[in-house]
Amino acid sequence: MAPASSPTDTAVTPAHVAIIMDGNGRWAEARGLSRSEGHRMGLRATRRAVEFFANRGVRALTLFAFSSENWQRPKAEVEALLDLFVAAIEDELPELREKGIRLRFIGQREEFPGQLQQRMADAEASTQANDTMTLVVALGYGGRWDILQAALRWVRESSAVNPDRDAFEGFLSTAGLPELDLLIRTGGEQRISNFLLWQAAYAELCFLDVLWPDVDDAELQGTLDCYARRQRRFGCTAAQVDTVHA
Ligand code: IPE
Ligand code: IPE
Ligand code: MG
Repeated sequence: MAPASSPTDTAVTPAHVAIIMDGNGRWAEARGLSRSEGHRMGLRATRRAVEFFANRGVRALTLFAFSSENWQRPKAEVEALLDLFVAAIEDELPELREKGIRLRFIGQREEFPGQLQQRMADAEASTQANDTMTLVVALGYGGRWDILQAALRWVRESSAVNPDRDAFEGFLSTAGLPELDLLIRTGGEQRISNFLLWQAAYAELCFLDVLWPDVDDAELQGTLDCYARRQRRFGCTAAQVDTVHA
């Protein structure tokens, strides 16, 4: 798939932004609060980020809300997170609908309680026709799982003799979304933590020290400014990129 923009254009908007929203627990612990309280404050930052990127014309925003490894956290924290997800879908849906935002979930959803699975399916169905921006929430998601499930479905369902990248991408959970342009991680760590492993192949990476509940519009604007200053080459020389990826 072609990149969203010319590599030499400095006034670019990424078509697809993904965020590893990290730091809720440390934010709460620094204030003597429970980690669950940190997740609640993280949700406020999430709301700000959705509005910010939708207003900037980003086509898809993918948020890492719960990884396949996060199931190993203490039971009380996992339960508080699941309750928060159920409530958040219900609370945020009217505004998402009003803004024309389409909601989509990726990850191993069969591992979640039935009530949450139902909310996910209903929210997806009721926003299906929206086209301002697609908000992708990664729940129970792992990049290795995604590649593996795509490979298994590829073997079972594809009749093509020669595997082809575009066709394979049609089996990933992100099928149909624009190529990932910008991957942001907050909270000071500089790792991908099993997020969009395949999809991040040529994404620009932006690491912020700020903890997720403290992320505001200025921080988010900083990531777009940083993206606009990067020169993307996709493995080519600068002179080639315009023609190769036109
Ligand atoms: C990210 O914040 C949210 C989830 C993983 C659900 P953390 O809970 O990982 O916060 P820190 O990294 O411990 O501060
Ligand atoms: C990644 O953060 C997962 C989410 C933000 C949902 P983690 O806090 O789970 O990752 P590690 O443990 O620092 O690698
Ligand atoms: Mg963390």
